Amino acid sequence: MSKPTTARPLNVLQLTDPHLMASADGALLGVNTRDSLAAVIDEVLRNHGQPDLILATGDLTQDASPEAYRYFAEQLQAFDCPSLWIAGNHDDSALLSSIAAESGSDQKQWIQGGWQFVMLDSSVHSKVYGELSADELSFLDRALSEQPEMPAVVSLHHHPVDIGSDWMEKIGLKNRDAFWQVIDRHPQVRVVLWGHIHQELEQQRNGACLLATPSTCIQFATGSSDFAVEPLAPGYRWLELDPSGCFKTEVRRAASFEFDLDEKSTGY
Ligand SMILES: [Fe+2]
Repeated sequence: MSKPTTARPLNVLQLTDPHLMASADGALLGVNTRDSLAAVIDEVLRNHGQPDLILATGDLTQDASPEAYRYFAEQLQAFDCPSLWIAGNHDDSALLSSIAAESGSDQKQWIQGGWQFVMLDSSVHSKVYGELSADELSFLDRALSEQPEMPAVVSLHHHPVDIGSDWMEKIGLKNRDAFWQVIDRHPQVRVVLWGHIHQELEQQRNGACLLATPSTCIQFATGSSDFAVEPLAPGYRWLELDPSGCFKTEVRRAASFEFDLDEKSTGY
């Protein structure tokens, strides 16, 4: 699937880890996840306006309920653009895909604005860690081989690098070496993008920019050896992608969103 190239940079919004629930009262560590997502969407529209494409990088729901996925789809109607969804550890990958398909958001390979977007499912049923299946790795290799000259963004849910946090090291992408072996064969990959870690991160690797993004609800404490949260506001990432392969990106937060985070929690 593809949309035509635009003369200006392509504006891409990443929303990640909204952890929505069937109930309107659904809260994670004291934060109502519907309210925090609404605050983030308001912030996007106020700061950046309409994106050209949305990447939703997993943990779209906390309870894997059809109601929560449909609520997410309804909230995205604030935007007049396509969106692409992938699953996280809290999602039901099959259910997510079937509901995403209702709005064409189940596409795994997408070309728009002179860039290719590859969406990978790193979720493993009933596990918190991630792993890319042999089929998923083959798909990644094939998609990148089809467009060797086109800059690419590869998205997945789980972190494929060490982020300096002991408890999260055990729940990252298990077969990260196999992932990087594929990426290293395709130097047009400019960005690798993920969620899961509920915090902002930026690293460089062999010419690719590795980016993680705050959740639209609660934030995990950076560098913590054990599970810990910190009272940072919910946020999102904005990317401006030029067809030349150059890009700009920033994280913004809904700073005026008021919440009462349970900071003593030992899990989520
Ligand atoms: Fe999450």
